[in-house]
Formats: sequence, C-alpha cells, structure tokens
Amino acid sequence: MARRKKIYEGKAKILYEGPEPGTLVQYFKDDATAFNAEKHDVIEGKGVLNNRLSEFFMSGLNAIGVPTHFIKRLNMREQLVRQVEIIPLEVVVRNTAAGSMSKRLGIDEGTPLPRPIVEFYFKDDALGDPLVTEEHIIAFGWASQQDLDDMVALALRVNDFLSGVMMAVGIKLVDFKIEIGRIWDGDFMRLVVADEISPDSCRLWDIKTGQHLDKDVFRRDLGSLTDAYTEVAKRLGVLPTNVTHATKPTLIN
Ligand code: TMP
Repeated sequence: MARRKKIYEGKAKILYEGPEPGTLVQYFKDDATAFNAEKHDVIEGKGVLNNRLSEFFMSGLNAIGVPTHFIKRLNMREQLVRQVEIIPLEVVVRNTAAGSMSKRLGIDEGTPLPRPIVEFYFKDDALGDPLVTEEHIIAFGWASQQDLDDMVALALRVNDFLSGVMMAVGIKLVDFKIEIGRIWDGDFMRLVVADEISPDSCRLWDIKTGQHLDKDVFRRDLGSLTDAYTEVAKRLGVLPTNVTHATKPTLIN
C-alpha cells in the first residue's frame, strides 16, 4: 500500500491519513519517553504490545457502549481510528495515591482514595502539562461546563470498566490517563475516548506482589518494560502464552 500522508507525530505514535475521510491510521512506535521526553529510549516490541492492548481496551469499551475513536486493528503496529478534534486536556482518574499526586500532596504511594478522583492537566509540553481546575478550563474556552460533566462521566465509566477487567486478572488499576476528542455530525457534537489506553498511560500493580506492570518500570528503572507489558497482555489473553517455548504438542489429561 502506498505510504500515507503523515498528519502528526507524537512521542509514542504517528497519525497518518486514513483510507476514508474522517478516518486516520494510528501507528504505535517503540519509543518510550518520560519526564516530558527528558528520558528517552527505544524498547523493541513496545509498539506492538500497546497496539494490541489499546485495541483490547478500546473495543471492550465500544462493546459496553462507551464511545471511542477505535474502529479496528489493521496490523501489528497500526489501527484504524475515527478522526477527532482532541480536547487539549489529559484526564486522569486516580483510585489509589501515586505518582504526581503523592508528590504534590505528600500522600504515601499506595494509599487508597475514598473515591475516584478526576483531574485535568492542560496538554502543553512547553509548560510541562500543568494541573488545571474546571475554572481554568471554562475561562480559557478549552471545554464547556457541559463538556466537563460529560468528560467526568466518560472517565468514570472507563475507570469502572478498566478496574474490573484488571481486577479479574489480579492487577490493581491505580490510576490512568485518557484523552477525549470531539466528533462532529453536522451541528451535533459528541465526545469519545481517543488516543490510546495502554500500560504507557496507566499505573498497574500486581495485587499480590505490588510489582509495577506499567511505564513506571521505565520511568523508575525497575527492570524490563517489555516483560511487564507482556505479562499484562498474557494475563488478559491478548497474547498467547509460551509461544516462544512451545516445541511440541502436549497432552492435556
Ligand atoms: P502522574 O501521577 O504522573 O500525574 O500520572 C497519572 C497517570 O497518568 C499515570 O497513570 C500515568 C499517566 N500519564 C500519562 O499517560 N502521560 C503523562 O504524560 C503523565 C505525566 C502521566
């Protein structure tokens, strides 16, 4: 297939023009960055894993009626998505204190929160994606009050779904980030979950051992990122187990 026109290149993904108007092809790179790209590495296989995992989460959300941009996976590294107008906010939902919240408020990592907390960060690399309040969002016109209510409702539905899916495979969903986009249908606008949902954008802790199975492995130099993501994929049944070790058929009694 002829190479498509590149629309946008981010730190971990590239967007190409899609085959039909209103669609894009989302390509998952192997690049990992942290601390606003101060730390960077190429981790072989990460893009393939995140493509599969994001497909798994997004198609699950579509199936329960939570709208997303995801249409279908095309190959190992690419998926077809709806073109959306991204709202310039990172929407973070936290179930357990960790990361920047622990640092900012002096709460020990691992402290359970009394209810899920939704936060908004303004997407601006030059400013380091600062935390913003609903007042800022409305005053600066990034979203309306109605959008905000819809975004919180959407984020909490994603939280319920992801928490349940992860809990079923022995993993605690500590927190995650989503991005939300607008799709226009004439004058009618609706909000959908966009970008990706993967261990790059979630904190996932093994329930029994507390082991980190997400991008903190890279941020904090805790071991192999591919091993961590492969573990998540295997548990979810997204990757067959033991592919590399299967040498001959085994009898099952
Ligand atoms: P934080 O504790 O660093 O604010 O991160 C909260 C969640 O958001 C965590 O699951 C990781 C995710 N996240 C991103 O996906 N992208 C980012 O740039 C940052 C800072 C966090």
